[in-house]
Amino acid sequence: MKVENVVLSVSGQSVVIIDQTKLPNHLEYLTLVKSEDFYEAIKKLKVRGAPAIGICAGMGLYVTAVRSGISEEPALLEFIDKTAQYINSSRPTAVNLFHALERVKRSAHSQSGKGTAAVLSAMRDESLAIQEEDVAMCRAISEYGLTLVKDGDGILTHCNAGPLATSVYGTGLGTLLLGKEKGYTFHAYTDETRPLLQGARLTSYELDKAGIDVTLICDNMASIVMKQGKINACFVGCDRVAANGDTANKIGTSGVAVLAKYYGVPFYVFCPSSTIDMNCKTGADIVIEERDPDEIKTKFYKEPMAPASVKAYNPAFDVTDAELITAIVTEKGICRYPYTDSLSALFK
Ligand code: MRU
Repeated sequence: MKVENVVLSVSGQSVVIIDQTKLPNHLEYLTLVKSEDFYEAIKKLKVRGAPAIGICAGMGLYVTAVRSGISEEPALLEFIDKTAQYINSSRPTAVNLFHALERVKRSAHSQSGKGTAAVLSAMRDESLAIQEEDVAMCRAISEYGLTLVKDGDGILTHCNAGPLATSVYGTGLGTLLLGKEKGYTFHAYTDETRPLLQGARLTSYELDKAGIDVTLICDNMASIVMKQGKINACFVGCDRVAANGDTANKIGTSGVAVLAKYYGVPFYVFCPSSTIDMNCKTGADIVIEERDPDEIKTKFYKEPMAPASVKAYNPAFDVTDAELITAIVTEKGICRYPYTDSLSALFK
């Protein structure tokens, strides 16, 4: 299956992404060449979803190094370090961004003394490897996901953790997409995911395109569909998992988990093991991105939907406590509570 959302050009001079802010109405592609292009595309969610921003950033570091034209190796390595730091500052919560940049940076330094051509070639290989690994990880995660559900299940989703946010299949949506290929019929209920509507704009688009039965709901309808017995499991992706299993994901995720616990619905988190940050002891150590309040008051509306003088608070993520998570599904296996033990076992 072909990856379409983030593509490195053969010449290494650019990265072409699907502009996710234009979906579902317009499928538009953007060409990124400068470090500022990569920073802006990530900051403004033109490319988004933890694995996808990591992949894009890693390729971006390579492209900016190629285009720098720097012919002295020490100067090139210094440029790479500074550019990585700059791109990494675009969004704080998803650990994949940091990991991918570190990997590509390390691959550059591993060629120290061999000349700039060797440095660039190693960076290219590493950034492509991150994407290839993501394809394989999403597939493995989706296979594990299928062991947790049965044909006909109703699945509640929050935000978007599909192919647009990753590579192929996705994490949170992978089970549904792979299941569809294998002949399962699922009924997805998709939270619209205020304020940026990733559920409405992206998840319902991806599921509908794949021929999966999908029903869009407002975020505040999650309780009623659970109470009505329409939901057999909740599926979400994540941006960072702490060593104790506390999990940061799109704002509103923790509310879904609290409801799921109340109604006795299993709540599953899907992620590649690269999203698990063993350096973060608990969720309290995860930096939560705060975004422009106008995303709540004015975005998507013809006229502002609150008086100009009213304050708005716009945290982009929240942390779901480990006790609320039924299982964390990774490409290496399914982890269960207590996560301090099951997550550390993944890395042994
Ligand atoms: O702000 P976003 O749209 O980048 O938030 C994305 C999410 O919260 C996703 O659920 C997460 O990155 C997992 S993507 C596989």
